[in-house]
Parts: sequence; structure tokens; C-alpha cells
Amino acid sequence: MAALLNLILTFSLLTIANSLSLNYYHKTCPDAESIVAKAVKAAKAVDKTVPAAILRMHFHDCFIRGCDASVLLNSKGNNKAEKDGPPNVSLHAFYVIDNAKKAIESACPGIVSCADILAIAARDAVFLSGGPSWDVPKGRKDGRKSKASETIQLPAPTFNISQLQKSFSQRGLSIEDLVALSGGHSLGFSHCSSFNSRIHNFDATHDIDPSLNPSFASKLKSICPLKNQAKNAGTTLDPSSTTFDNTYYKLILQGKSIFSSDQALVDTPKTKNLVSKFATSQDAFYKSFVKSMIKMSSINNGQEVRKDCRVVN
Ligand code: HEM
Ligand SMILES: *[C@@H]1O[C@H](CO)[C@@H](O)[C@H](O)[C@H]1NC(C)=O
Ligand SMILES: *[C@@H]1O[C@H](CO)[C@@H](O)[C@H](O)[C@H]1NC(C)=O
Repeated sequence: MAALLNLILTFSLLTIANSLSLNYYHKTCPDAESIVAKAVKAAKAVDKTVPAAILRMHFHDCFIRGCDASVLLNSKGNNKAEKDGPPNVSLHAFYVIDNAKKAIESACPGIVSCADILAIAARDAVFLSGGPSWDVPKGRKDGRKSKASETIQLPAPTFNISQLQKSFSQRGLSIEDLVALSGGHSLGFSHCSSFNSRIHNFDATHDIDPSLNPSFASKLKSICPLKNQAKNAGTTLDPSSTTFDNTYYKLILQGKSIFSSDQALVDTPKTKNLVSKFATSQDAFYKSFVKSMIKMSSINNGQEVRKDCRVVN
């Protein structure tokens, strides 16, 4: 039964119903991309956490129902949407996509999907953080469903390497894609709740996850004490958390990554080789990241071009 469900999930996620192209809006909305870039840049100037938020938002969008802007829909009536599901702790900056959409609707109404706006914004988020740029294939359609209960399909920070591999392969993504896309953790922040299990009562014999560097673990424990933990307490995923670079991979090799799912990337020879390669060569990381982002962001199965990114037409 579980196998059958997996097969169905895999099949439906792999269906790329809308074929994408680089010049999709060339005639119908030539300024679409510059309008999005402007919105992301303006928001970043006020709040430096915006690029990380946008990149994560796009990842969550793509992993549930494909990149169809399901992550942007608001809860309505009895339906609790993805953004109100449990792994939402740090999803924020939805207003940036709203601002871009508003500006685009006044330039070319009813043409550009919210899913495309989010994919373009994610590219801009990386580039504006000093990372690589790339041409985003466009032509995604927006979906009409968003369910909080489906957010359990996202990989968890406690996942081991086989669970991560499975989660990615269900979406047509390879081991190389897993290691390269995890480099998204070069940007941003995590709440203590996402890594508490590594630093308190880890298992029957260890209080602290033995794969953690001991002095780094003590630092995390002081930020996230077992008792009276502040709701917003946490740490950056990388000390250079507003610069998109390969520091993330160097930290993994030192036992200084935040999540078990990050550290797990050294648990097979193949993934470990990729981590070492990306730690040594930022250029190799950028090349792989771009390739894998285009692959992840091409999963799409939507039906319409929403007028308002928060509600279906
Ligand atoms: C491989 C499986 C992944 C797992 C288990 C995972 C898990 C997480 C968790 C638990 C957080 C912190 C949430 C919080 O406590 O606030 C986080 C943050 C983040 N993730 Fe991932 N993630 C994964 C893959 C990705 C991918 C593929 C990307 C993008 C390419 C990405 C981009 C980000 C970013 C940018 C943040 C910081 C968000 C912010 O500061 O607002 N993650 N991730
Ligand atoms: C996150 O989800 C919880 C329920 O799981 C909800 O109470 C909370 O308002 C949501 N937070 C955000 C920022 O959407
Ligand atoms: C990963 O976790 C799953 C589920 O807990 C378990 O069945 C599997 O044996 C684990 N794999 C590794 C490599 O630790």
C-alpha cells in the first residue's frame, strides 16, 4: 500500500504538464523579470533576511504539488493551507511576492503566474546575495489547492541520508541535486526547534549528537537551553548567512552544520565526495546549484494564472 502510494506520488510529481521556455513572456510581458528583480531588491534593502525567505519559499512550493505557488495560498474556510502547516516556522516575506505581482498586474494583467514570479524571485534572491545567476525557464501555471496536511511531505531536518535521497528521488531529483540544493543553507536562519534533538537527549548514550563539533555544540546549547527557550531563539545556518557562498560545505566537514540532514551528507562516499568538491570549489558548487535549481523549479502541474497570489481565481 505504502509502495503504491509512493508510486502515485512519484508519478504525479514527475508529470511536467506545462512545458517551460526562456522567452515565455517575451511578447506578452517583456518587463516581468525586471519588475520581480526590483521588488526583491527593494525588500532586501529594508530587510536582509528576505532573500533566504524567498529561496526557502520556492523550495517548499516545488516540493509540494510541484512549483505551482500552492505555498502562497491563504487558508480559507475549513481549508488550512500549506503556509499554516507545521514546517512554516520561518516562512515569511510573502509580501515581496505580492508587491511583485501587483506591479506585474498593472503592466500586463492576467499573464504572469505567481509560480513563475516565485521562481524568478528565488533566482534574484541568490544573485543579490552574491551567488550565481541563471536564465529561469517560465510558463508555470498556478495550482488551485494548498493543504497544510501535505507539508509532512517536506524532508525533515532529522532525516538521514536514505530518507533524504528518497524524498528527492520521488521528485525526480538525484543525489547530486540533493547535495547541491542543500547549499541553499548558505543563507538564512533556523529556530532552535529545528535542531534541539541534536543538542539535548540525542540518544540513549549521548546527550549531544557525536557528529557535532563539541565546542560548536556547546555554543548551540547556550543559544538553545533545554529550559526556558525563547520562541524566536536560534542561529544562522552559516556565519555568512546573507552571502551565498560555499561556506556551508566547509562547515559540514568540520561538524558545524546545523541540521542532521546537513551532516548526513557525509554519510555515503558519493555524497561526501560532492560535499568535499563543493567545499573546495565555489565555482563547482555554483554550477551544480544552478543546474539543480532549474531542475527542481521545473516541476509544475498548475492550471491557471492567479490574479492574486493568495487566492485561487
Ligand atoms: C534537504 C532537505 C532540507 C531540509 C531537511 C531543510 C530544512 C530546513 C529547516 C528545518 C530550516 C529552518 C526552519 C526554522 O527553524 O526556521 C531551513 C531553513 C532554510 N532552508 Fe532548508 N531544508 C532542506 C532543503 C533546502 C533547499 C533545497 C533549499 C533551497 C534551495 C533550502 C533553503 C533554506 C533556506 C534559505 C532557509 C533559511 C530560511 C530563512 O532564514 O528564512 N532548504 N531548512
Ligand atoms: C504556522 O502553523 C501553525 C499551526 O501549525 C499556526 O498556528 C501558525 O499561525 C503558523 N504561522 C505562520 C507564521 O503562518
Ligand atoms: C534512516 O532512517 C530510516 C527510518 O527511521 C531507517 O529505516 C533507515 O535504516 C535509516 N537509514 C540509515 C542509513 O541510517
